[in-house]
Amino acid sequence: MSASPSDSLWWRQAAVYQIYPRSFADSNGDGMGDLPGITSRMSYLSALGIDAIWLSPFYPSALADGGYDVDDYRNVDPRLGSLDDFDAMVEAAHAADIRVIVDVVPNHSSNRHEWFKAALAAAPGSPERARYHFLDGLGDDGELPPSDWPSHFGGGACTRVVEQAEPNAGSLGQWYLHLFATEQPDFNWDNPEVREDFHTTLRFWSDRGVDGFRIDVAHALVKDMSLPLRSKPALDILVDDGSDPLFDRDAVHEVFEGWRSVLNEYNPPKAAVAEAWCPFTDRRLKYARPTELGQAFNFDLLQAPFDAAEFRSIAEKCLSEAAASGASSTWVFSNHDVVRHPSRYAFPDGSTRDDLEAWLLADGATPALDLARGVRRARAATLFMLGLPGSAYLYQGEELGLFEVADLPAASLQDPTWFRTDHKIKGRDGCRVPLPWSATEPNLGFGGTPWLPQPEWFGSLAAAAQDGVAGSTLEMYRAALSWRSKLQAEETLEWLDSPEARVVHYRRPNGWEVITNFGDAPAQLPSGVDLSKVVLSSGAPAVENGTGAGGATIEGETTLWLAP
Ligand code: GLC
Repeated sequence: MSASPSDSLWWRQAAVYQIYPRSFADSNGDGMGDLPGITSRMSYLSALGIDAIWLSPFYPSALADGGYDVDDYRNVDPRLGSLDDFDAMVEAAHAADIRVIVDVVPNHSSNRHEWFKAALAAAPGSPERARYHFLDGLGDDGELPPSDWPSHFGGGACTRVVEQAEPNAGSLGQWYLHLFATEQPDFNWDNPEVREDFHTTLRFWSDRGVDGFRIDVAHALVKDMSLPLRSKPALDILVDDGSDPLFDRDAVHEVFEGWRSVLNEYNPPKAAVAEAWCPFTDRRLKYARPTELGQAFNFDLLQAPFDAAEFRSIAEKCLSEAAASGASSTWVFSNHDVVRHPSRYAFPDGSTRDDLEAWLLADGATPALDLARGVRRARAATLFMLGLPGSAYLYQGEELGLFEVADLPAASLQDPTWFRTDHKIKGRDGCRVPLPWSATEPNLGFGGTPWLPQPEWFGSLAAAAQDGVAGSTLEMYRAALSWRSKLQAEETLEWLDSPEARVVHYRRPNGWEVITNFGDAPAQLPSGVDLSKVVLSSGAPAVENGTGAGGATIEGETTLWLAP
């Protein structure tokens, strides 16, 4: 939906395309995607029809967690370009009517951040240490970790340091908290200096012209570190009332109210979306209130099976919660942290997250996936979602129908999960493989030898191989995004009756209709559906069966769009 630069509500129903910069396009042949690579592909992004790009971190980083370990929040990793390259990219994006969202990682810095280095060099109890969570260990000699909290990527969440300041220089000393990798020390958000510094970062990028921010692990910033630390055998949120020591604490909202004041210093105000893996309650929407960030990711469809009742009830609930809080809803099927959805939908029904992990660990050998069904469902789900009010967050490569790469050579794996679990959980590299642009160019047109190897089959899904090919996934996305901008309507919808439970049918206020058959066999279309209004199908077009009664059918695992 193209909107004028002064439109302050552009984000409410935007199609946002997530770029994982290292894997998008490599302009200098070093095998790592970069900012000039993004600029060079702006016409592709423009032709795709998205409203905004969201860039995963491109800041200086040792890449212990793919860039979510940030050394310097106000700079560009030299391997990915320079601040000038960033400015050029923003300018090219804006010239193409594409807005730019950048990732902010406020829960933790990297262990190479100047503040953390200063904290290590300083003594226990110093102001330098007070920017992070440094604690004395338990046991006679402080040799036991101060808590049993596990880290997200495996292993414990506390690491002991060797003191550098006298009189204890050279001996083992305090411990610091890192909910993720050892290289990602958690900030202490009770410290006003930390709060102020993130305001500076928000202003730094806002002044450079970015239009919004995606907030990493937004629900974890504020913690209850009062001693003794409360035991927590798993990191999943066990309680859902704000009493968890680590997640979704009420006081986190003060932080984001402060951020909103900063974002509102700009005209139009900057947009923001929280990554808050909170349960499905109104607590999640608090992050998205107009007085805070405006949106919070909703991962419910991502986690749901491809099922009519599930999809409908999730959409209903998310829309009503969003409306009640003044936010707009968000929808996501894939991102850089999860198995790509055409692969997820290709699993036998009833498969669990553990089954996905086991499949990855078996290099994709078992179970055998039904890839044709995976793509069929992915395309149907995408059109179901793109018709809904709210913002669609798309992950690079999903417009090509890319599958997860499950059989990356072990030696190429980089996700800290793989290392911190002693190779028991493979991690997220399989969705981060550099994009295939052209089947006939070296490295599939990505650039230099990619930092993660591209499988041979990537070539058949390359952008150039799908360009202009009727029925290709790329052309379906282009058509859908183009129709979406023309059909966009008020943020409401009406659910319509359908004769079969596996068929879900909704209509936007301007008459735009979306019908999905979640079953695998053809189903009867609701009566009164005028097939001459079909403008888009995720699969085979609907066919008249001409046998009276219901009149027409919709193919299995298919979504149709009808224009008013
Ligand atoms: C978020 C990011 C993920 C990262 C983690 C720690 O969940 O999406 O990629 O590993 O935060 O920063």
